[in-house]
Amino acid sequence: MSDNSYTPVRITTIKAERQVPFPVYIFFKDQYLEYVQQGKAIEKEKYKKLRRQKITKFFILGKDEGLYQKFLDSFLEETLNSPDASLDDKAEAVTGQSETAIERLQIDPGNQTNFDMTRKAAKNLQKLIFENPESLKRIFGQDSESGPIVQHCINVAAMSVKFALKNKVTEEELDWLSTAALMHDIGVMQMEKESQDLFYKPKNDFEGHEKIKYFEHCKGVVQILAEKPYINAQVIELIENHEENLQGSGPHKKSKLSKVQEILSMVNSYDKKIITKKIPPETAIKEMMIDELGNYNLALLTNFKSFLKEEKVI
Ligand SMILES: [Fe+2]
Ligand SMILES: [Fe+2]
Repeated sequence: MSDNSYTPVRITTIKAERQVPFPVYIFFKDQYLEYVQQGKAIEKEKYKKLRRQKITKFFILGKDEGLYQKFLDSFLEETLNSPDASLDDKAEAVTGQSETAIERLQIDPGNQTNFDMTRKAAKNLQKLIFENPESLKRIFGQDSESGPIVQHCINVAAMSVKFALKNKVTEEELDWLSTAALMHDIGVMQMEKESQDLFYKPKNDFEGHEKIKYFEHCKGVVQILAEKPYINAQVIELIENHEENLQGSGPHKKSKLSKVQEILSMVNSYDKKIITKKIPPETAIKEMMIDELGNYNLALLTNFKSFLKEEKVI
């Protein structure tokens, strides 16, 4: 990223009435316009107007990336720890950071700043989900301004970490899982439009060649990530194996999965069912108990169903 390039950031990560230590731009009529001066804050009314106009992105200069990340870290820390912030404020801040991180990974999956941002977003998502009982349902029911694939990644991350926590996995595993879940389908976002459309097709309706094409999203991007020394091997393995199942019919035909790998794959299948078949969460879990029997341990599926009830998702 060159210093004079413009980098997109979600407007939900630049809060109103909060001083920004860098200039903020909007893209309007083919050009970047300075919208907030360095050291100034956006007025609440102006911010609301932008939201109403469905403006979702601001831009910052590449050279201000470090300042932006620091700004975002303190914004998230304050919001998540503030007794005055509503659940919506908290969820919006965490979602904005996750969306920005995932969208950047889509453009440049091997970039360390993007990976670090994703890891921080995954940590904040955990904090939100673990400390606010209603937050999972809140996140799970939303529509991301970044589109259904990004929303799917956030859904899977939120749901899989909370379910994994109940299944007594280690803190380290929760970190790997939440990071990998946010990243797991960046391979889909990198495919050309026609292949990307396969994301919306139920997997049982795939023709042979479509299945092969779709499974590529678990390969190419993994090779890019695997070369990076700052990405933990467990995170890479989770991404690589997120479409695998115990019957070995996934892209790599793997049939032995670790507990967290099985959880990620199962939660991914569950959320995909809701998206691709446009069915409610209750119907999706009923179908899972039939269609995915054998793909996952029965005990895990049953626990997952109880978990969804406890969380009032179904
Ligand atoms: Fe996938
Ligand atoms: Fe997925």
